[in-house]
Amino acid sequence: MNIIYVKNNEEMALKAASIIAAQVTLKNDCVLGLATGGTPVGTYANLIKWCKEGHISFKNVRSVNLDEYCNLPVTHPESYRCFMNTNLFDHVDIDKANTNVPDGLAADSEKAAKDYDALIDSLGVDLQLLGIGYNGHIGFNEPDSAFTMGTHVVELTQSTLEANARFFDNDVSKVPTHAITMGMRNIMSAKRILLIGGAEKAEIIEKAFFGPVTPEVPASILQLHKDVTVVCVKA
Ligand code: F6R
Repeated sequence: MNIIYVKNNEEMALKAASIIAAQVTLKNDCVLGLATGGTPVGTYANLIKWCKEGHISFKNVRSVNLDEYCNLPVTHPESYRCFMNTNLFDHVDIDKANTNVPDGLAADSEKAAKDYDALIDSLGVDLQLLGIGYNGHIGFNEPDSAFTMGTHVVELTQSTLEANARFFDNDVSKVPTHAITMGMRNIMSAKRILLIGGAEKAEIIEKAFFGPVTPEVPASILQLHKDVTVVCVKA
């Protein structure tokens, strides 16, 4: 495990983008596992800049996103498909046909989750980017999720609904209650993992990476992965 402490969010975004850029440079047809949320926005902004300047290209890159809300139209600005288009895909040379986000609108979401699970297995993720929730969740794998789970439909916990209300006019009742998420098995199967967190996540990062490996802190399982880098702001 490699823990890189940085001074602030700008430095975190630079370091994380450098690691992703290195991956894309080393293997131009790599598969990136991507995350949404507030934390990776600066990282994506750096990747957009470097792509526009011609330093990196996403032409042959394929991507799989961690998760998507159920029953939120993809045109809704808070849908994760819309987030990815706005914060990355619309501004780089990636072929959108090669980008994948779980289908939160599928009539049969259990089947959509199963299909996504098979897709991840067939692609094989080279580098998985992760944020972390205050309760230690990664993707939407909330505390006490089984470490063996593949992609599945999940009911969001109250703490996650409250944390995400800031994206929905601070109104918890507007936050979708269910999502499709990669499971811990999918995340652990990535060849390399990059987890990023700002100063506000310092406490949970400490718990996840220096405490016991337990389903109560989902991210703690990453201690068992052989190639994890954490870039976090020192509190
Ligand atoms: C996002 C995701 C979540 C977030 C986590 C942190 O795709 O799966 O696990 O990474 O909730 O969110 P932010 O970055 O908004 O604090």
